[in-house]
Formats: sequence, structure tokens, C-alpha cells
Amino acid sequence: MRFSLIRLWRERRLRRAFEPLRVRLQEELSQALAYRCEVVPASGKGGYDRLFYVEKGGRRMAMMRVKNQQAGEPTPVVTEGLRRALTADERLAHEWSAYAALSTQNLSPKPLWRTEAAIVCSYHPFARVAACLKADGAQVWQLLPRVCALVRAMHAMQIVHMDLNLGNILVDPQSDQMMLIDFEYAPVAGLSFADACRCDYLRVINDFLRPRRGGRELQKDFTRFVTLLQHEVPATLAGGSDRPLCAHFPHIAREARSRQAMEALLGVR
Ligand SMILES: Nc1ncnc2c1ncn2[C@@H]1O[C@H](COP(=O)(O)OP(=O)(O)OP(=O)(O)O)[C@@H](O)[C@H]1O
Ligand SMILES: [Mg+2]
Repeated sequence: MRFSLIRLWRERRLRRAFEPLRVRLQEELSQALAYRCEVVPASGKGGYDRLFYVEKGGRRMAMMRVKNQQAGEPTPVVTEGLRRALTADERLAHEWSAYAALSTQNLSPKPLWRTEAAIVCSYHPFARVAACLKADGAQVWQLLPRVCALVRAMHAMQIVHMDLNLGNILVDPQSDQMMLIDFEYAPVAGLSFADACRCDYLRVINDFLRPRRGGRELQKDFTRFVTLLQHEVPATLAGGSDRPLCAHFPHIAREARSRQAMEALLGVR
């Protein structure tokens, strides 16, 4: 109760602090789009960036990510020795260029407009894969291969995500189309592209193994899970890595059989 009151108070304070910028961006964007839009706060999380819906007459048209100057820069900058949290300016530029490439294949939202303070991309009324699995863990058997296909398609474009949890993958309940969002990390200098790809698979597999993300279902038939991954993860990644990657992913690291499976699939320990 106390915790949520503090969050509410922080959120109200942040909204007040952002108000002048929100109004300015709303004006600038309305001019660029040539229609009157409203920029409406979307996230109450108070992270490094602020998310806003761009609405026209109450209808969501686009999504805006605005730099949160007050949050400062991320600390620690390097996590797991594998990825670097980007600075505010880098985050906008990185997400913009990832979306510019991926959206050509419908793998991400489409970038629409940017200023120094914000980027705007297309809005998609999709659900987070994490939320689908929380609602029904048994969906893991059909979602897992589709997520792997999405990751393969991204890697085929020479793009890595580095924060590939199931909250950053959206799925359209109507068409089953999936999209990647939230590109705010980069691989550390010196990490090979193959190792960065391995990290993406490890992070997403680790998330699938969480009990409330389908992990309970996977544990019921672990052989089926591993066979599925053998079909979906490119054999080119089995070559081996000299980095001890599994240790960073607790749901993989804690069981011998998942560590063995990752060693066979990705050549990692
Ligand atoms: N283009 C979009 N279309 C529709 N919904 C979106 C879009 N971009 C983001 N969202 C929604 O906003 C949520 C948060 O977006 P995102 O992951 O980019 O931000 P974040 O600040 O890093 O938040 P989190 O820490 O929750 O991941 C997404 O899970 C999704 O529900
Ligand atoms: Mg996210």
C-alpha cells in the first residue's frame, strides 16, 4: 500500500515535470502530421524514458518515447559483462535505426518522426508475449517456435536486441503477427556478433523457463522443449563460445539439463 502510494506520488511529480515538454512536443508533432494530435502519458513506470500515446480524437495513432532528463544516465553502464545500457541520446538513435531496418520486414513498429527529445513510431494494439503466457502457460508450445522465428529474422538482418525478454515482444491476437520493441542496450565492445545472438536466445529462453511464463509447461515435457529448440535455433550458433554465458541466466543456470541443452544448442556453458 505504502509502496504504491509512493509510486503514485512519484508518477504525479514526473507528469508535472514533463508537462511543458509534452505540450511542446504535441504542438510540433501536430504540425508535422498536419492534424491536431494529443500526446497522452502511457507508462507509470518512471524509467529512463517516458512513453506517451499519440491520439487523434481519442484514437491511438502512434507511440512516443521521450528522454527522461531527470533520470540521469543508467548505472551500472555495463551489465553481465555482455551489454551496455545506452545513454538517453543513444537510446533514441538506436531504437530509431533498429525500427527503421526491422519495420521494412514488419518485425517492429515503424519510425515516423523524431526530434532531439523524442521519437515517434507506429502504434500496434498488440499484447506482450509475457502477458499471454501469464494468462495461459500452455500457449508456450505455439509461442516458442514463433518467437524463435522472429529472433532468426532479426539476426538475419544483422541486428541484435540484448534485452530480449518476453515483455519486449508483442503479438497481435488477430493476425498472430509478432514485433520486437524496446532497443535500449548494445553489446559490449569485443562481443562477437555470434555471441550477441547467443545472448538473445539465452535471455528469451531463460524468460520462457520462468514458472509464470510457460516454464511449468516446459518442465512437464523437457524433451519436447529441447527438440523444439533444436529445430528453431540455427545450427551455426552451436559452434561454441569461450565465454561462460549461462551463469547470467538463472532459470537456465540452476538446472543441469538446461545447461546441457544450451551447451548442445549454442556451445555455451
Ligand atoms: N509501438 C507500440 N505499439 C503498441 N504498444 C507499444 C508500442 N511500444 C511500446 N508499447 C507498449 O508499451 C510497453 C512498454 O514499452 P517499452 O518496452 O518500449 O518501454 P519500457 O519503458 O522499456 O518499458 P518496460 O520496462 O516495461 O519494458 C510495451 O510492453 C507495450 O505494451
Ligand atoms: Mg520493455
